[in-house]
Amino acid sequence: MVAHETPPHVFSLSDSHLPSFRDLTMKRRQFLTSSAGGVGALALTQCSLHRASSSPRGADLPVADAIASSRDGLLDVELAAAPRQVALGDREVTLSTYGGRFPAPRLEVRPGDRVRWHFTNHLPQPTNLHFHGLHVTPTGSGDNPFRKIAPGKSFTYEFDLPTTHPGTLAWYHPHLHGTVAEQLFGGLAGLMVVRGAIDEIPEVKAAREEFLVLQDFSFDDRGQIAPPAAGRRVLGREGDRVYVNGEVNPQIAIASGELVRLRVVNASPSRFYRLQLEGHPFHLIGTDGGAIAAPVELDEILLVPGERIDVLVKGDRDSGQFRLTNLPYSRGGMGMMGSGMTGNRGMMGGRGMMGNASARESDEQVLATVTYSGAIAPQPLPERLLAVDALPEPSRTRRFTMNHGMVPGLGMTFLINGQPFDAGRVDTRVQLNDVEDWEIVNTGIMDHPFHLHAHPFQILSRNDRPEPYRAWKDTVLVRPGESVRVRVKFADYPGKTVYHCHILDHEDLGMMGAIEVMA
Ligand code: C2O
Ligand code: CU
Ligand code: CU
Repeated sequence: MVAHETPPHVFSLSDSHLPSFRDLTMKRRQFLTSSAGGVGALALTQCSLHRASSSPRGADLPVADAIASSRDGLLDVELAAAPRQVALGDREVTLSTYGGRFPAPRLEVRPGDRVRWHFTNHLPQPTNLHFHGLHVTPTGSGDNPFRKIAPGKSFTYEFDLPTTHPGTLAWYHPHLHGTVAEQLFGGLAGLMVVRGAIDEIPEVKAAREEFLVLQDFSFDDRGQIAPPAAGRRVLGREGDRVYVNGEVNPQIAIASGELVRLRVVNASPSRFYRLQLEGHPFHLIGTDGGAIAAPVELDEILLVPGERIDVLVKGDRDSGQFRLTNLPYSRGGMGMMGSGMTGNRGMMGGRGMMGNASARESDEQVLATVTYSGAIAPQPLPERLLAVDALPEPSRTRRFTMNHGMVPGLGMTFLINGQPFDAGRVDTRVQLNDVEDWEIVNTGIMDHPFHLHAHPFQILSRNDRPEPYRAWKDTVLVRPGESVRVRVKFADYPGKTVYHCHILDHEDLGMMGAIEVMA
């Protein structure tokens, strides 16, 4: 993305406002007054996720979380998308930002709230907004992926969350077909927290909460985002460095006896994160769509693009430092093309006809370091969380196959049911309130995370193996040779939206379909 002048007015709230946020360790608080409209202040807080001491720049870089919470049922924000010079790790770089900030402001809402976002596009190319993980209307000024906001133009997104919306971690990012990967890789992603019943479970409420936004970027020597190498979009672009909340290897403080709640989002366009925390299991309490029924203990968790997890970590050591790592993982690749293999997981491709697009195991990376300091009376894990009710039997089953192929005139294209995305076509028509089973099949040689907007689903089985526990999801990994069965109820919101691969280069290269829910 090209750098240009940063507009003066990039963030304001309609009311002066303090974050109602209970358990962040606030290091400082400052108030900025909007330079346009004079409509109030933004509260900034810095949470206890500190810059690691390995950073040569010290601990006072502007990495504070900005939080905007709803008040009296309304979240009213004015945030523009704009390029901006920011400090990232040990460098000055140019990123695309929301509200002029990186990381982007975190929005906090409650079920039943209205969201009103006065958005202006100060990017040199068109964009729009998507609210990944919200169950809201996809039409009009709602979570509408077909809207296009030209450079210099403004638009007000305005929609209501249902009163029944579960507490969950959603996130916002651009969704203009063709440029989604580029804009996300330029920095555009932010958190949207829906506070709900999960946050009121006493043990969860007592835990200290940290948000971890996982991103990867590559920069040229002028600090501009480096475009992907030729052929790299086929596997999906990955940056040469990973960042957590815009920091390289930040420290996460934990006291002996403490329960820390980590809420993690994979906001990378393509990179998978196979997460492991040295010496500490994860206690999973929530997935994309909110709480599960009871904690599940896991040694590692694979987080594919778009997915979120909510985990508790128990501080059962006395002292020490423990690395949160991203273990090696192979997403398959073009190296296997023409070999006749339909791709067993983990199979390595060499440098195939697509050059850089061959499979590779990334090296293990350190994402963050959990560091002990102090001790408190041990905080117990919750035993029960929230019921995840089974959905009724489906009225029909559909099949979606994901693969790539050469399409005359288009070149290498990514396809669902043999077709590249066409905004003028509706691929799937469903009836409002119907329950359907979707069989999502990967007949290709690369991993594809399948994502459906607006309507959360439950995974039933993978290759007929039942899922071990029920959970609300909106994104699910489908590996080569795999067939994943999900069940979804198309409740509340008629209208047109999309499903797609969340390797966003694949989505931009055609792997998306349009669905219309008919009233
Ligand atoms: Cu995270 Cu269609 O998006
Ligand atoms: Cu989405
Ligand atoms: Cu894909």
